[in-house]
Amino acid sequence: MDWKPDRKAKKAIYKQLAEYIENGIADGTFPPDKPLPSERSLAKELNLNRSTVIAAYDEIESNGLIKRNRGSGTTISKDIWGITKKRIPSWNRYVEAGSFLPNLPVTQKIRKEIEEQNLINMASGELSEDLFPIKDLRNITSTRSYAGSIGYDHPQGNRILRETILKHVRDSRRIESSPGSILITSGAQQAIHLVVQCLLKPGDAVAIEEPSYHYSLPIFKSAGLRIFYLPVDNDGINPEDLISLYKKHRIRMIFLNPIFQNPSGTLLNEKRRKSILEISSEHGIPVVEDDPYSLTSFSGEQISSLKSMDVNGNVLYISSLSKIVASGLRIGWIIGPKPVIERLSDAKQQIDFGHASFNQWIANDFLESNEFKHHIKNLVVQLRKRRDQIVSSLSEFLGDQVNFLIPEGGIHIWCEIKKDFNEVQLLEESIKRGVIYVPGSTMGSKKNCVRFTFASANEENIHEGIRRFASALQVI
Ligand SMILES: Cc1ncc(COP(=O)(O)O)c(C=O)c1O
Repeated sequence: MDWKPDRKAKKAIYKQLAEYIENGIADGTFPPDKPLPSERSLAKELNLNRSTVIAAYDEIESNGLIKRNRGSGTTISKDIWGITKKRIPSWNRYVEAGSFLPNLPVTQKIRKEIEEQNLINMASGELSEDLFPIKDLRNITSTRSYAGSIGYDHPQGNRILRETILKHVRDSRRIESSPGSILITSGAQQAIHLVVQCLLKPGDAVAIEEPSYHYSLPIFKSAGLRIFYLPVDNDGINPEDLISLYKKHRIRMIFLNPIFQNPSGTLLNEKRRKSILEISSEHGIPVVEDDPYSLTSFSGEQISSLKSMDVNGNVLYISSLSKIVASGLRIGWIIGPKPVIERLSDAKQQIDFGHASFNQWIANDFLESNEFKHHIKNLVVQLRKRRDQIVSSLSEFLGDQVNFLIPEGGIHIWCEIKKDFNEVQLLEESIKRGVIYVPGSTMGSKKNCVRFTFASANEENIHEGIRRFASALQVI
């Protein structure tokens, strides 16, 4: 065999071997009427571990290309070279060739662990089920007649819902706009994705906060953008940093989550908010304001959005119902200049033909109801209790081993751990003890940080979760 694995390549050796064999099956190097080399002989010939060869065969078998038979070795599936001469494409190669990048491996791991194990979940950035307004939503779905209202709708989203959201942002965020300037999206996430895809091109420089939720999104890299970072201190980003980034890299767009930022929990102070708007209008740089958390203010104070302070039309405003009603509704929105909204909704129509009408009606009826106001009041009380719980549990179990800022809203707390540790090992040890959180490096921290979401577990579980985390930290 003249093939050799490339030991310097990034791709795992078992994957290289799987690809080599798959290609060999496709081009006839491995004929259909002969068994494939045994695991042992292949390992010897290629000077590989037998487990590497087994992993390669496992992968090819999962694609349906080979069969492992007890006694007669590994053979090529009859379906491929049988009477019908069907050929199965080499799916692995397609999977790796797409230009849309996968999630970070650690993000994939966290999702899998949450699905497969019964863990105290302080990783998912959402409310726990008991905080969803299930009863209110059930009342809405059981009383409304959906006759005539669930066909394809306007690509910008249902007109009645757009008007209801405009009233909601006028009352709660002091944002004035019109139905032509808002697009309903599948959560804030889709709004960010549409902005990246439709308004920027490969090579454009963008600025994001560090740490930030946006850091965790491969959609920026998939779009070929050059990403520059604005460090977040206790009052958010520093406008001076923005000026120097702009001078060096001609920043084309700024992505900010100014209020109760994910993950740091910080609030961009008013002076800085003003000066960012000044810089934005002086240089004509659009600001994308991602604002899903502002209604959770624990003090009840209504913090002005950048959009409400923006007199020149520089801000694209994004928000959603995910963090205040239910993440599974997938209702988000973006407000901006009409031509921008029309461009984005044209793209959204190509992608999914507009948002699901059923969810839009539910969202509309809930937002319009008195129950919505009661729900938010109650939610803020509950989130505040959970915030207090996590602060007291961190003090009880970790004391002076951690630094953190007490968030005044939102659902996350960002903890700096004073000692050096191995991030992967700490996550593994924590999972072994039944708790999961988000390691800081996935959100762009250079220091030893972790993000705990305190909305996704109740007070008792928060206390137990931090106890388990502290015990994991002791052993590494
Ligand atoms: C700052 C920020 N923006 C956007 C999102 C996406 O939320 P969704 O698409 O559920 O509205 C999240 C979710 O965690 C977030 O924290």
